[in-house]
This record gives sequence, C-alpha cells and structure tokens, in this order.
Amino acid sequence: MSESVVTAERPAPNAAPADQTARSHVAFKVADLVVGRRLRFPIEDSAGLLLLAAESVITPRFKQLLLARGVEEIMLSPSDVDGMSGGETPSRGLSADTTFDPAGITILNEMIDTGRLFREDTGAKFKDRLIQHGCKGFKSGQQQQLVQKHSETCTRLDALMKSAAAGGNPGGEEIANIVSDYLSELVLDTDCVLDVMAHTKDYAEIAQHCLQMSLLGMVMAIDADMSEADIRLVGLCGLIHDWGMTYVPQHIRMADRVLTRVEFLEIQKHPIYTLEMLRKIKAIPSQVPLVCYQVHERPNGTGYPRGRRGTNIHPCARILNVADAYAALVAPRPFRQPLEPYAALEYLIRQAAERMVDADAVRTLLHVVSQFPIGSTVQLSDGRKARVVRRNGNKYSSPIVQILEEADGTPTDPLDESLVLDPSEQNIQIVKVLSSAGREDVEASRSSVVLKRD
Ligand SMILES: [Fe+2]
Repeated sequence: MSESVVTAERPAPNAAPADQTARSHVAFKVADLVVGRRLRFPIEDSAGLLLLAAESVITPRFKQLLLARGVEEIMLSPSDVDGMSGGETPSRGLSADTTFDPAGITILNEMIDTGRLFREDTGAKFKDRLIQHGCKGFKSGQQQQLVQKHSETCTRLDALMKSAAAGGNPGGEEIANIVSDYLSELVLDTDCVLDVMAHTKDYAEIAQHCLQMSLLGMVMAIDADMSEADIRLVGLCGLIHDWGMTYVPQHIRMADRVLTRVEFLEIQKHPIYTLEMLRKIKAIPSQVPLVCYQVHERPNGTGYPRGRRGTNIHPCARILNVADAYAALVAPRPFRQPLEPYAALEYLIRQAAERMVDADAVRTLLHVVSQFPIGSTVQLSDGRKARVVRRNGNKYSSPIVQILEEADGTPTDPLDESLVLDPSEQNIQIVKVLSSAGREDVEASRSSVVLKRD
C-alpha cells in the first residue's frame, strides 16, 4: 500500500525508538521478536532479570514461554533492535532481511542503471478507442453489473495472492485476464468504472486496494497517452505490487497508532517480499518485477527501496505511485476517516510541489479525477442538488451531472434522462461539493498550491 501516505501520516522512519533504560536498552514487544535471529547481547526483562544469553537464537518456544508468563515486553540492546523486524519469519522461508535474494535484486538494479527496461513507448495510442457518451447517464443495470464484477474480482485476486503467499504458483495469465477484462470495460464506459470505484466503501484490504490502484492507474495511463502495452503493464503491476504486504504482520499493517521505526522498516520491505513472490508466477512479463520494485520510489530520492530519483524511476511506477497514494487517501484506515476526493487531490498537489510524488502523474490524476470527481454530490447555482456522473472533456469545472433534488428538496426521477446535463450549457455553476457521510475534509488553500515540472 501507499508508503508515501504512510510516511506522511506517520513519523519519519528514523524517529527515536521507544523508552531507553539507564543501560541504553530498548523496550521491545515479545510478539515482534523474529524467530531465528541470533542475539549479539543478552535479553532482559524490565526488572533486569536475564532471560536469554548473548549469542542465543530466538525460538518459537522462547516466545511462547514469555507470553505464557505474561511477559509482553522485554529489553533489547539497540544493536539487536536494528536487526529485528516485526513478526515471525514467514513459514515458506522468506527472510525478514531486505537483502534476501541479492542476486535478483542486483539484476534489477543493473537494469535500472543501464536503462535496459526503460523501453521507448512506440505502440499505438489507446485513448481514441474509448467510447464517448456525451451528455448521457449510465446504461440501465450497468453499475450493478460492475459492482458485482468488482466484488468477484476482489475475491479472485485475494485467492491468487493467498496462493502465492502460501508458496503456490498462480499463472500470470489469470492475472493478465483481469486486466484485459477491465480494459474492455474502460473502453465501453470509463466513467461508469470510475463511478463504481468511487462508491466502493471498504477497500482497506490488500486485494481491494490492489484493484483500485490498478484501475485508477490504467485510466491515468490511458489519459497520459501511453501505449496499450504500457497500460496493461500498469494494470498488471497495480494488481500485484502490494502482495508482499501479506508478509507484514497485520498488527503493523492495520495499526491505529504511530508506527515505531522498526515497524515502518517492516512496511518498507513489502516490495521486496512481492519480488520474491513474483519469482514463482509463471508467464509474467519481464518488466513487471521492475515496476513493482519501484512503485514506492520518489522523484526527490526519499522513497524506497533504493532512493532512486526522477527519470531513474520507471514511468509506469510513477503513475502507480500516485494512483496508490490517491486510492489510499480516499479509503478509510484504522487511524483516520477517508478523505474527500478534492482534499486528497490537494494533498497530492502539495506533495508534487515538494517532489514527493511525480508532478506529471499528479497532473494526469487531476485530468482523470477532475475538479469535481465522478460520484461527488454537488450544489448547483440554481439551488438544485446533483451528482457528478461523467467527465466533460476539458471542462474540468463543469462535469456532466444528474439532478438528484429540485431547489425545494423534492427528489427527482433517477431514470429521467433529461435531468442529466452539462451545467455550462445552461449557464449554471457548481457552487459547492457536499461532503459525504463518514468522510473527512481538510483545510487547504488551492491558491497556495502550484504544480512544478520535474
Ligand atoms: Fe505498496
């Protein structure tokens, strides 16, 4: 999931660790001890009683005994804390150390350094294939059918991810089919797909977040005039990139509190865990590992895992980085309410100004999501209440809307096509976005935000 968001909402990874004792030992949760790690220094309880000698190896039995005795926290030497990660080593042998499979990662780094995987985008543009619907609502039953598809796809994706996490070998073709299927839906009616995404309430789970990120990424890639091959690459990597989060302990992933430095380091390992899972997926395009590896890099070099900058980050990874952040911001998290779409956009515009995210990708997101995103409820200057149903070409401040209520509050007929209109053609303006229940606004000044090019 979005590390840019995690970083922004939680303390910096180099924040000070928990309580220091007089002897510089650090309080550490027993549940977070990593089985198999050898200790350089002894472990003591909070009263200074020796629990495990130096050079001992942490075992499941040792953790069980401590927890059975009601010991939930022990004191560790800071150097042992540095070598410790949250949660047990995954059962199929994934190391909690970010340097596992160094050969594979070295190959990826060489590919980035030499530009070997940054191919020229020469394919035919895809954008012109999209069917334009003008001032029309959605086809009857279309939304319900897409909601059903969304739910079934999440279930399928979740099963594929869990199979890969358990050491299985899911076929890359099945994942690619999900991309093809949704690409067809985007050609038929992109706005309807965006509308269904806007109304999906619970996408905090990994598979749901992956699907949101993949779909938004594909719409952005289409808008950015990428070739069909690159749009498919964005879709595929969006579906897969966060699979490594399954190896991050749930108490860290779903924490409703500030993460410790050690916990945040564990979150930062998820692209590496994903790479390890990808090695077992058959028929996966060669660029997929590279893009998945780079999704959390940042233009200013403060991302991970390598701190690459600007154009040393694959263009598809730059698109997905922003799609990931936006999907995370508008979704509920255990520690906050979801943001309103315009508040999420303003947040990302500010991040782009600091080169924390790619400015071109944010600009593309603005085109896609628009000033008044699809699914928003708005107040019109004639007093009527309406819902944004379609984008309207370059008229970002005047999307196609469907009237929901007359000025006196009388509900309208949802099937009346004459109530789907382009406000600019009737000299009507959108004066206000109405917050939806359970969403959180943020104060932000649009005038203070300027998008700079990298
Ligand atoms: Fe991620």
